[in-house]
Amino acid sequence: LNKVKVALLGSGTVGTGVYKLINRQRKEMPYKVGADLVVEKVLVRDKNKKREGIDSSLLTDQWEDIILDDDIQIVVEVMGGIEPAHTYIKEALQAGKNVVTANKDLIAEYGKELLDTAEENGCDLLFEASVAGGIPILRPLKHCLAGNYLTEVMGIVNGTTNFILTKMAEEGMEFKEALALATELGYAEADPTADIEGYDAGRKMAIMASIAFNSRVTFDDVYTEGITNISSKDIQYAKEMGCAIKLLGVARNTETGIEVRVHPMLIPLDHPLAGVNDAFNAVFVHGDAVDDAMFYGRGAGEMPTASAVMGDIIDVARNIQFHCCGRIHCTCYKNLPIKKITE
Ligand code: NDP
Ligand code: HSE
Repeated sequence: LNKVKVALLGSGTVGTGVYKLINRQRKEMPYKVGADLVVEKVLVRDKNKKREGIDSSLLTDQWEDIILDDDIQIVVEVMGGIEPAHTYIKEALQAGKNVVTANKDLIAEYGKELLDTAEENGCDLLFEASVAGGIPILRPLKHCLAGNYLTEVMGIVNGTTNFILTKMAEEGMEFKEALALATELGYAEADPTADIEGYDAGRKMAIMASIAFNSRVTFDDVYTEGITNISSKDIQYAKEMGCAIKLLGVARNTETGIEVRVHPMLIPLDHPLAGVNDAFNAVFVHGDAVDDAMFYGRGAGEMPTASAVMGDIIDVARNIQFHCCGRIHCTCYKNLPIKKITE
């Protein structure tokens, strides 16, 4: 059986989840990918830090150990930030390695440049986890809904702020306490300013608008306003008016141009978005053929995000094995027994 070798850049919240999932899914890989999927190296800042469940012999703090290893075919960037992630991804693609990333900061700013580099070098660059955590949304926009003229993408795309607003509304928690809890649960960014000021949601909206409207939208094009000015009193008044306060992202493809914005909004309590609580996300899409479609699920956290990253890894591995990920392959199916229902 072929081995597809993977390097993880980062073993924090998401990296640890991906590592666990690769090992948990190991027996399934011959059926799903037609090969064994193996973590070969894990890049971290501090090799001496205690990391539960990670084989310490795989740890390295040297990028050279990965970029110079010709056996590594997939680099999974889950470090975050712009540098050195940007340089590493670019070098990996130039070296003919496929890349999977969860990094919305990077994709919102350098997505086009990196996709061009991937194409020039015949590699895959996938980033499903960069928007809405575990919810499959980028592939649906790019593939399943490709037959539509999409005019609107909107929803709740930041888990941390939705968690904070939920805790403030339902448990009377203070903003700071709720943010600390979101950080403890692994939802918040390394610098949570990006979450609470709406920048993280803005980057995700830029990525979705680019794909949905076949255009180039960057974070600079997005109007952003966060939730730092929302007080418990505001939330109470909203409740009395029969509303919830949610941080919404809205991207519209209008006759006069694309407009993208993120800001807190009053949502009537009987609207489906008002019931999206904790770190859950939801995205509505409107297309001329499909009409309305809604996507809902966990928008942040270790295993939900790992689920999206793992889906990308498997797609890339299928490409490596079969030179095509879009087809359903029947060559390595499991042949499980079928129970016939007779009454
Ligand atoms: P963490 O801060 O938990 O983990 C970051 C990891 O990267 C750590 O293991 C750290 O090493 C390593 N790292 C950081 N900088 C370097 C460097 N310069 N060289 C080597 N290693 C480095 O982040 P998360 O796991 O939460 O997030 C990772 C990425 O995934 C980010 O882009 C984030 O936006 C994105 N994301 C996160 C989600 C979440 O729910 N947390 C959801 C969706 C996307 P060390 O351990 O030694 O410090
Ligand atoms: N900090 C992000 C959030 C992680 O809270 O939504 C998922 O992208």
